[in-house]
Amino acid sequence: MERLQKIISQAGIASRRAAEKMIEEGRVTVDGVVASLGAQADAASQTICVDGEPIRKAEAHVYFLLNKPKGYISTAKDDRGRKTVLDLLPEVDARIYPVGRLDNGTEGLLLLTNDGELMNGLLHPAREVWKTYVAQVEGQLAKPELQMLKSGVKLEDGVTAPAKVRVLDWNPKSGRTKLEISIHEGKNRQVRRMCEAVGHSVQALKRTEFAGLSLSGVKRGEHRALSADEVAYLYELADLPMRGGKRKG
Ligand code: URA
Repeated sequence: MERLQKIISQAGIASRRAAEKMIEEGRVTVDGVVASLGAQADAASQTICVDGEPIRKAEAHVYFLLNKPKGYISTAKDDRGRKTVLDLLPEVDARIYPVGRLDNGTEGLLLLTNDGELMNGLLHPAREVWKTYVAQVEGQLAKPELQMLKSGVKLEDGVTAPAKVRVLDWNPKSGRTKLEISIHEGKNRQVRRMCEAVGHSVQALKRTEFAGLSLSGVKRGEHRALSADEVAYLYELADLPMRGGKRKG
């Protein structure tokens, strides 16, 4: 038996907190009876519904690290028939989702999993999970512009948190600067907007690290499964107790 909010979040439907709200709102039933907050259930033998829809029984969790090429969108489905990142993992039949997003025109490291709880944990702003990008930007950055990127840039949805920024290369021939930028927030198109805000448009963008994991050994368009140690490490970062097997609690 497990708490209902845990079962719902493990099924990838909502974070634990959002699941608690659903229970409080009377939207969750166990074997046809409206559940109250604090209730426990057995996902294997009982029928749990949210808004009348049975939730899928938890399937074995799988975790992948993908090196996304440009031209793939980071959603599980697309109404307009565009290529999605799932097209790059055709052999995986679990219902996996990307952990956050990379723009269509951005390449690089993207995690995918069917572990909704870990996904929500890693994306929670309080966890401050670091992501590193390499950006090719137009022009050469002056010291005050670099300082602004580091200390916080005013965007229309707020000022960005302090970032780690370093110049990797300046190419006078192409007139471009190669920048490495590490951030722990996940605002929409954040790196592009930060660079634009200091007057430099981004010509190419690649995520090279997520939560300390790197693209090492994974070519563009390829993916690999995460090791048990990597998953355990992500659980720690997401501040989640480990479950089953190697995991405790
Ligand atoms: N920042 C961006 O601008 N784009 C991404 O895809 C990720 C971070």
